[in-house]
Amino acid sequence: MKGNSQQKVVFITGTPGVGKSTVSSLLQKKLSAYLISINELAREKGLFQGEEPDKGYKIVDLPALCKELTSKISNKEGMILVDGHLSHYCPRTDLVIVLRLDPDFLEQRLKKRGYSPLKIHENLEAEALGVCLIESYELHPDKVQEIDSTKLSLEEVTDEIIKIINKEIYYPPGKVDYLHWMVKK
Ligand SMILES: Nc1ncnc2c1ncn2[C@@H]1O[C@H](COP(=O)(O)OP(=O)(O)O)[C@@H](O)[C@H]1O
Ligand SMILES: [Mg+2]
Repeated sequence: MKGNSQQKVVFITGTPGVGKSTVSSLLQKKLSAYLISINELAREKGLFQGEEPDKGYKIVDLPALCKELTSKISNKEGMILVDGHLSHYCPRTDLVIVLRLDPDFLEQRLKKRGYSPLKIHENLEAEALGVCLIESYELHPDKVQEIDSTKLSLEEVTDEIIKIINKEIYYPPGKVDYLHWMVKK
């Protein structure tokens, strides 16, 4: 589907806890962008297919969510930011930013969130293996860039993304490597 030439859609994806929502709201202010939280959109519209039996969380109806997102975006102009680890499953985008964070740092953040040990482990493993990056690359090979936020402040991450959007800098996918975490565990 072709987008409106006056609009630029940027997906901010990555493992839970890497900083997507905080950075997206900073970006929204700095760029006067329209911000969509894809998790909120799923909740608002009740786009769930049932519950995961063992873990108790709701399973998102992805085709319905992407359809909803695409239609919400279709009549908007200007900069549109989409925050969420499900955003990259959807088709309509100009740029996919994958935020990365060293799993040892991510562990502290997810503990603070009160996630169960199993949920923490699953997310750390996903981050170490680069699951969001690989999925994003498979679906949007020419639109993906990744930022290692481990040593960056929130302001710095936000500024790096603005530089990417302005094409002042380019972070090709595949440079970030946290596989050491898999070996250590
Ligand atoms: N670069 C960073 N430096 C320090 N703290 C950060 C950074 N990025 C995110 N955080 C903190 O990590 C927590 C999780 O961030 P959040 O934006 O909710 O992540 P996500 O939306 O990816 O799940 C928040 O408390 C946020 O302030
Ligand atoms: Mg979030």
